Amino acid sequence: MKVLLLGATGNLGIRLVPALLSHNLAVVAFVRSSAKLSSMLPSAILSQITIVEGDAKSSDMIKNAILDNDCDAVINTAGLAALLPWKTSDLPTIFAAVIQAAKLAGEQRKKALRVWFLGGLGLLDLPGTKSLLMDYLPVYREHRPNFALLKAIPTDVIRWSILCPSVMNPRSSEFVVPVKGTKKLIMSATIPPHWKDSWMRRIPLVGPFLVLGKNVSQYTTDLEDNAEVIANDLENGDDEWVGKKVGVWQSA
Ligand SMILES: NC(=O)c1ccc[n+]([C@@H]2O[C@H](COP(=O)([O-])OP(=O)(O)OC[C@H]3O[C@@H](n4cnc5c(N)ncnc54)[C@H](OP(=O)(O)O)[C@@H]3O)[C@@H](O)[C@H]2O)c1
Repeated sequence: MKVLLLGATGNLGIRLVPALLSHNLAVVAFVRSSAKLSSMLPSAILSQITIVEGDAKSSDMIKNAILDNDCDAVINTAGLAALLPWKTSDLPTIFAAVIQAAKLAGEQRKKALRVWFLGGLGLLDLPGTKSLLMDYLPVYREHRPNFALLKAIPTDVIRWSILCPSVMNPRSSEFVVPVKGTKKLIMSATIPPHWKDSWMRRIPLVGPFLVLGKNVSQYTTDLEDNAEVIANDLENGDDEWVGKKVGVWQSA
């Protein structure tokens, strides 16, 4: 399988390069600057990948990169959601461009593309309710309209999934293939895995906020392990996470 990786110079993207290669997937890295990517990776890895320069806000550039390189899958790590609700970023434009490109490229290839998007923990449901975690924690809100766009796409048009991690930390800045020492994350669809409910939820008005506060700090994971989640899923090629928002949790 050949994967178009957008945002390969980012925190997650750079770790996805060795992760994908370790799972025997071919990598086409879509970046704004090939010089920047070349300065970040060892030549042993660079020699195994194709690099395409482009702007992820352009659906035409993304579509052409998919079709010119005959990619079967796309991972979008380009763009970073704005933290505060009154700030904006390029992520919504990039997100919409990737959807449009994957849709059109899939039509032309007569086969839906497999696409992983990135959201955040707040996009998952508060277990036992119909509310999103971000209803109680008003940060990274750009993920909500992004997901609304994605949810409207049938999975026979784009075989999409959206990974919803909390804060991701780097374990190492050395990149080798095969990747060593990754830990398996616990995954679940729609709600955060391993959520601990509490009697505090029943406290009027503030209950959900208190339960959220107790839980949220437990969802920090390592970038390398999130890269492994996506790479492993693409290598397996099954439908387990297709059409789902996916939460991750690292046991202590
Ligand atoms: N990091 C976390 O803890 C965390 C947690 C939850 C969710 N997320 C989400 O996960 C995603 C990846 O996070 P990250 O930390 O890896 O982000 P990051 O380090 O900020 O990387 C963003 C990447 O996007 C690229 N980019 C931005 N605009 C672009 C454009 N117009 N065209 C092409 N590339 C463009 C950047 O390229 P340049 O190098 O050229 O700037 C960079 O490679 C984001 O959507 C973020 O919101 C992150």
